[in-house]
Amino acid sequence: MTVKQLQEDILKLKKNNDVIILAHYYQPIEIQEIADYVGDSLGLSRTAKEKATEYIIFAGVDFMAETASILNQDKHVLIPNPESCCPMAAFLTPEKVREFRKKDPRIPAVLYVNSTAAVKAESDICCTSSNAISIVKKISEEFNVNKVLFGPDANLADYAEQMSGIKCLQMPEIGHCYVHSQIKPEHINDARKEHPKAKLLVHPECIRDVRDLADFVGSTTQMYNRVKNSSSEEIEFIIGTEEGLLERMKQDFPDKKYYLAKEKLICYNMKKHNLELIKYLLENLDDKTHEVKVPSEIAKKALPPIEKMLYYS
Ligand code: 13P
Ligand code: SF4
Repeated sequence: MTVKQLQEDILKLKKNNDVIILAHYYQPIEIQEIADYVGDSLGLSRTAKEKATEYIIFAGVDFMAETASILNQDKHVLIPNPESCCPMAAFLTPEKVREFRKKDPRIPAVLYVNSTAAVKAESDICCTSSNAISIVKKISEEFNVNKVLFGPDANLADYAEQMSGIKCLQMPEIGHCYVHSQIKPEHINDARKEHPKAKLLVHPECIRDVRDLADFVGSTTQMYNRVKNSSSEEIEFIIGTEEGLLERMKQDFPDKKYYLAKEKLICYNMKKHNLELIKYLLENLDDKTHEVKVPSEIAKKALPPIEKMLYYS
């Protein structure tokens, strides 16, 4: 069956069911094309809360689907490939968060949404790459302190600290994304030499030496909007994130030119979904093996930090 046929079947099946398809920008482009909403982690969480239907098919990694499930405990969140997980989340366990908190219980814990539900349940507030700076500022004001615990991404913690002036104690110091941390200053220097007129946009999960070379640092949606709102003189962009976003930009803004900051910036976890699996789900909405359900005692504890983030954003 061709991609086009599969997409048509999916769109037909979707019409007959109370279902919404949410997809992250790192999804294969053919999945982005049939989604009802494509966005970054914050936009996806918001949409999951505001537009929830009886069934939510979530084309993203596990923590994103879990967040949607926590926000919609009475709905069915389905993930096309249940093995699509974000390895960054494995850097932090609930026990580790409790250990960090014991050292100084007055310091609030900010948890990047790229974490397990059980870890979120131990936090005061969650954040995404698009709101980390403002969340750190707001929660430190609320707790009347000048430092926060921040995990599991040490690079995002460093970025939030750099931009907010609030000390972000990395929890742990080694947490990182294997896709973004591959990008090194030498890749940027090479790309700049090859495309001297291009603007460099990077994700805050990149290391500081790379972020410091960028013209713009932001979440996937913020990078997308940076291109969307660019002037007619800005034609070329070097993109420092997973290649799915670049594919989307090519489709939506075809008059511009895009180059990846480094070859093969692929999140293999995000690419585990495909159209066949989505079609299967639409035909088998009650297949429990694809349902993401956070145990209710954990979901109840993880909900307030997520809702607080949405309130503050
Ligand atoms: P965004 O929230 O910027 O889309 O990032 C999610 C993510 O997993 C980045 O690697
Ligand atoms: Fe996780 Fe990195 Fe993939 Fe984002 S790009 S989902 S942080 S592994």
